[in-house]
Amino acid sequence: MMPRYSVTVFAALLLGFSLSFFGSPVAQGAPSKHHHGLQTQPFGTQDGRPITLYTLTNSHGVEVRTMNYGGIILSMRMPNRKGQLADVVLGHDTLEGYVPNPPYIGALIGRYGNRIANGTFTLDGKTYTLPKNDGPNTLHGGVKRTFDKVVWDGAPLKGGKAGVTFTYLSKDGEEGFPGNVKVKVTYTLNDENELVIDYEATTDKATPINLTQHSYFNLAGEGTSDILNHEIMISADRFTPVDKNLIPTGELRAVKGTPLDFTTPMKIGARIDDNYEQLLLGHGYDHNFVINRQGDGMALAARVYEPTSGRVLEVSTTQPGVQFYTGNFLDGTVTGKQGHVYKRRYAFCLETQHFPDSPNHPEFPSTILKPGDTFQSKTIFKFSTR
Ligand code: BGC
Repeated sequence: MMPRYSVTVFAALLLGFSLSFFGSPVAQGAPSKHHHGLQTQPFGTQDGRPITLYTLTNSHGVEVRTMNYGGIILSMRMPNRKGQLADVVLGHDTLEGYVPNPPYIGALIGRYGNRIANGTFTLDGKTYTLPKNDGPNTLHGGVKRTFDKVVWDGAPLKGGKAGVTFTYLSKDGEEGFPGNVKVKVTYTLNDENELVIDYEATTDKATPINLTQHSYFNLAGEGTSDILNHEIMISADRFTPVDKNLIPTGELRAVKGTPLDFTTPMKIGARIDDNYEQLLLGHGYDHNFVINRQGDGMALAARVYEPTSGRVLEVSTTQPGVQFYTGNFLDGTVTGKQGHVYKRRYAFCLETQHFPDSPNHPEFPSTILKPGDTFQSKTIFKFSTR
């Protein structure tokens, strides 16, 4: 691990040096079609460790930037129907902007994405207590050393590919969870305008694990407008209704006849403020949908279309669920890229995952990772236009 890391840092420093001589296409956000593949650049330090900015570019000039702090995706520059690129995710211009990052913008989430009720669960007869950060619940893995807030090791993919692998060792007892968990997440950008995310984890003690990616999308371009005019199709006949603390009740409810029926495309804003108990509890959409699937392989979770730009995002995954969150808690207190103020419903998230609070719901698909087993999942964000 060490030598590879040092080489990366050395390469990053060298690149930073040459960029300061020849101008930095990354820092200025100019199209980097001359740099098809991966570029690295020093991006400051966090917890005394160097942070590297990785720019993934494909042959169409489509560009995704990420960093080893929190595995955060800073930007995704995608073409509209005229071929013009715009950044379609919320974010910040600097590392400092992400520290802290209360809405988890762009970050990798773990050990346990979404909520664990009352910050507790019982496993193999032992009760574990987690730090609470969401009323009575633990949200997105805890408080201090959660996957969105730690420095990962980054390693570029070999063979000039536009990709990077992040690894992190989450120590036994971290944020109250058992076992030393080794996590590996790879981002790859291919020439089909797909951002492919591969997750892997192993442990030396049984532990819950639920990994996801918390990008906030606005296909019209980040910071420009709310997302109520986007049309979404969610491939789910059922969802997991929640109680007042946004904890699943255990029911798998049919979406048919409810404002959560997106089995045919519908504007996000069409019914978001309907007087339906689940929407009132979530202050809009903030629900886990049970993805329709045959078998364990990749399944389409959702397709989103933004009519003015023509951009389309398709999300497919091996996971059983997807949290559709419409940025209801964004309230204009976060100022992001280029001074853009992120207001209520200025973005949506499609967080592929296992169901919230699964450790307390034996009837849900299990999130328990056991020693000797390897957790693996894949999610693809595919961009196109119409
Ligand atoms: C949750 C929301 C939460 C947001 C930011 C989403 O995954 O479902 O309830 O506000 O993350 O923490």
